[in-house]
Formats: sequence, structure tokens, C-alpha cells
Amino acid sequence: MSEYDVLEADRLKQLFDLTGEAYVTRGGGFAEDPYPAFHKLRESGPVHEGVVGPLVGFDDPRAFFQGLPYHDLPHYSAFDWATCDAVFRDGDTFISQPPDADENALMFGGILYMDGERHRRYRALVQPQFLPKNASWWTDQWTVPAIEALLDRMAPNGRADLNVEFFSAIPLLTITGSFGISVADALDIREVAVSDGNGLERFFAIVKPLIAARKDDPRDDLISLLLRAELTEADGTTSRLTDDEVLTFSFLLLTAGGGTTWKQMGITMLGLLWNPEWLDAVQQDRTLYRSVVEESVRWTPTDPMFSRFVAHDTTLGGVDIPGGSVMHMCLAAANRDPARWDRPDEFDPGRPLQAQMGFGGGVHTCLGMHVARAEIVNAISMLLDRFPNLRLDEDAPAPRITGMYERGPSTVPVRFD
Ligand code: HEM
Repeated sequence: MSEYDVLEADRLKQLFDLTGEAYVTRGGGFAEDPYPAFHKLRESGPVHEGVVGPLVGFDDPRAFFQGLPYHDLPHYSAFDWATCDAVFRDGDTFISQPPDADENALMFGGILYMDGERHRRYRALVQPQFLPKNASWWTDQWTVPAIEALLDRMAPNGRADLNVEFFSAIPLLTITGSFGISVADALDIREVAVSDGNGLERFFAIVKPLIAARKDDPRDDLISLLLRAELTEADGTTSRLTDDEVLTFSFLLLTAGGGTTWKQMGITMLGLLWNPEWLDAVQQDRTLYRSVVEESVRWTPTDPMFSRFVAHDTTLGGVDIPGGSVMHMCLAAANRDPARWDRPDEFDPGRPLQAQMGFGGGVHTCLGMHVARAEIVNAISMLLDRFPNLRLDEDAPAPRITGMYERGPSTVPVRFD
């Protein structure tokens, strides 16, 4: 018996199938390739009135993501690199705090939804733990043990859908492990995270007792770090986070950490399987993994859109935008802007390295990006080390990249027998 036995295939499939029920409100089943439409929109102007999804053919009123739904507000979307970059850099005009932040304090109280000095002070509390020099704090304790257990489990079968059987659990167990949450409770945390704000009682039932326990008995984990962190006010006085603030911070980290990287792992793996010369190349030279991951996030970022609320009337890309609007940045389109990249639609890890936007930009740039990179490199390199003859399973239905506001592979079917 191993603690990983609780990760039942059916439950993983239910929680991590983009085309299934759990991802309906994020448009997981949207099957079109949106990139031709992104190019067309960009060619006719950097900024368009409307929301990214409806502008490219996905129009579901239930859509739920950062900046959505807000049906009563005007919406605008930007599709080129320069405009998205300008929005990220202007935190006075394009703010992160939603108009209904107070009503939904748990979901909207975290740093993703803060602005200015308040954002800086709260982010600084946890930032050090997420720096590249601390990547092994995460990978040695939680990522690598999970990878090894999952590889052992797959090995006798000779074939697998890596999406569900391998990638899904690795980032989830890394972030839940870093909170001291058991493998048995990890899937419940994931279920709350995909429920658009429902089922929070289960989240409280898992995290509140941990907060209480760590107050008496601190450990080397994120809850203990949040509990001992000191906020410094402008006048130099310091204070600790309240229990509600610790809960809110935990909710954001657990949701963001467990929900993104698994899809980017699958996208990276498909990039390699569809370009076998790169699959060979990384097997010969491990130093290439870093460029492969960076190119995967440029080519197809798993979260293709992030948004801001417009603080006052402004003009962007020649379009007048009233204060109170929602401004969506299509990072996926910016990442394939031909003004910045040659052959932007090609997955080419050999291209000259330059900043891409898949982890966002400006002061809200993804806090977890170094952890995410380390998780992806460990997962794929350990997979290919264990199964050097890994190849696409030609008997399985052909995988494709699916989804609108969350994108990733439909499946990653492979053989290694
Ligand atoms: C490939 C995987 C990931 C991608 C593509 C990704 C993408 C992003 C993007 C685009 C943003 C900026 C949002 C904005 O500007 O409004 C962001 C923010 C954030 N991400 Fe990630 N993320 C990934 C993995 C992770 C992981 C593993 C964690 C945690 C362990 C994490 C935690 C966060 C947090 C806390 C923020 C908010 C930062 C702030 O507001 O200052 N992310 N992420």
C-alpha cells in the first residue's frame, strides 16, 4: 500500500478532463484552434470591443474566469504584444481589484486581486519561497516523490494517458504537500478549486485545522510561513496576517498551483511528441529542457487571457475605453505576435530566447513560475529517463489542444512497452 493509491483513475479523470463537466465554465471543451482568429483580430487592430471568447467563437454566458462574467460592464480585448505589455505596466489605469471584491472576500482577497503598495507588501511575504534558489525545496520534498510513485504505477501497463495518469497529480501534490495537506485530501482541494466558489466548506474543513495546528507546532511548510510572516506598515509598525488572510492566501496558492502547471506539462509533452526531433534532442542534452518549457509557454500558454478593471477613461490602441470597463489581455495572441517572433505558430525551442507573456507581466507576473518550470522539467525528464522509448500511441484517438480560458491537451496517449 502507498499513500498515492487514493489517487483513483476515475476521480482524476473527472477532475482533470478539460472536455468534461469540471471545465465547462472555463470553456474546456472548445475544440476550435483560436490562433487563426487571434491573428485576424490583431491584423485589424490591437484592441477590439468585446471579450476574447465571443470574439473567436466561444460564447457561453456561464463563462467564469478572471475578469468574467461582469455582464453589465463594457469589455475590451487586446491582441498584440505592445498593447498587452502596456496594460501590464500601467497599474494605475488598469487595476486588479474587482468591483465586487468585498462581497467575495475569500476568492478576491488574494494578491491576484490587489493593487499598488498593498499588493507589494502582501506578495513580499511569500515571494522568497518561490525564487529559483528555493526550487528544490518544492521539488525534493513533494514533486519528485510524486513523480516516482506515479511512474512506478504506470510502468507495468506499457501505455498511458499521461494527462490523467501522470501530469494531473504532480503540481497538485506539490502545492498541497507544501501546505501539509495529505494526498488523501488533495483531490478534495482540487474539487473545490474547479467549483467556481462552491464547496468552500470542504476547503475550510481541511485548511482551518491546519492553521490551528501550525500555530502550536510550526513546521517547514507554507501555512507556518504565512503565520509567522510580518507585514510592515508605511510607518514601520509590523503585524501578522489574520486567520482569514491566511485562508485567502492559501486558497489562491492552492488553486493557482494545482490548476495550471499540469496542463502546461501536457502541452510541453505534445510539443515534443509532435516534433520528434526535439524529443530526441532533449534526450541527448538535458540542458535543452529549459528552452523547451519556455517555448511551450510562449507557443500555447495554458491560461490564454488575463484581465484588468479600467480605473478611469483612457485610450488604448486608438480605441477610447471608458472607466469601469474590463480590459482583457490575450496573452496567447501576444505570444504569437509576428512583430516579435518569426514563424510564431511553430513550436521551435531553438528560437532566440526572449521574454514571453504566458506567465503574465508587470507586478503580478506569476509568483509560481519558477516552481512551475522546475515541476515541468522534473516530470518530463524523469518520464523520459524511465521510458526512453516513449512514443505517441498511434492506436489511441489523436490528441489535440482544447479549451478557451483554460487550454491543454484532450489526452496525451503514449506507449512505452
Ligand atoms: C505553467 C504554469 C502557470 C502559468 C502559465 C501561470 C500563469 C500565471 C499568470 C499569467 C499570472 C498573472 C495574472 C495576472 O496578471 O492577473 C499568474 C499569477 C499568479 N500565479 Fe501563476 N501560473 C502558473 C503556475 C503557477 C503555480 C505553480 C503557482 C503557485 C505555486 C502560481 C501562483 C500564482 C500566483 C499566486 C499569482 C498571482 C501573483 C500576483 O498577483 O502577484 N502559478 N500566473
